[in-house]
Amino acid sequence: MELVGRMMDGTISYADRGELEPVPSASSIKQDEKMERLEAVPLFAACTRRQLRAVARIAESFDAAADTVLIRAGEPGDEFYLIVEGTARVHVSATKRLRLRAGDFFGEMSLLDGEPRSATVVAETSLRLLVIGRRNFLELFDKVPGMAPTLLATLSRRVRRAEHAIDVSRHRVRR
Ligand code: CMP
Repeated sequence: MELVGRMMDGTISYADRGELEPVPSASSIKQDEKMERLEAVPLFAACTRRQLRAVARIAESFDAAADTVLIRAGEPGDEFYLIVEGTARVHVSATKRLRLRAGDFFGEMSLLDGEPRSATVVAETSLRLLVIGRRNFLELFDKVPGMAPTLLATLSRRVRRAEHAIDVSRHRVRR
């Protein structure tokens, strides 16, 4: 979706396909508030104050209305999302949905492996998001090695849940 790039070059479209789009936050979050939010996120627990300040500088604040499709499965992806307020649904399979809450992140998989988006993610309520572009995210990941264990633990949990969902649906088909 490349929100940040589209915001910068003015090509962001709000309603041209009749679809909802995330929009840059009208009342942009102040640097101090961003720091406060970021401090509470387990992924950034290993960051020093200085690193956290750098994250706050590179993270763009976006708002999305309920039902906005933030990520579409199969599309290329260049952004990492952190939920500041609200909840989102990950469409893991045709029947399985998972809820993500404030402090949760998504969109990391395509940034890490360069593959298309693995799932569709939709705003369940109105959302406030912090969005970090690929280059900044990978640089950050390089500079803060302490992020890796939290990110890997989250990925492992996601794989386990997804496999469990596949097992359950196979079981249902067999019955
Ligand atoms: P990405 O593949 O970049 O885009 C879709 C995102 O949905 C993915 O990154 C993860 O952040 C998230 N996602 C995919 N599968 C799961 C899952 N099983 N549980 C939670 N989040 C997921």
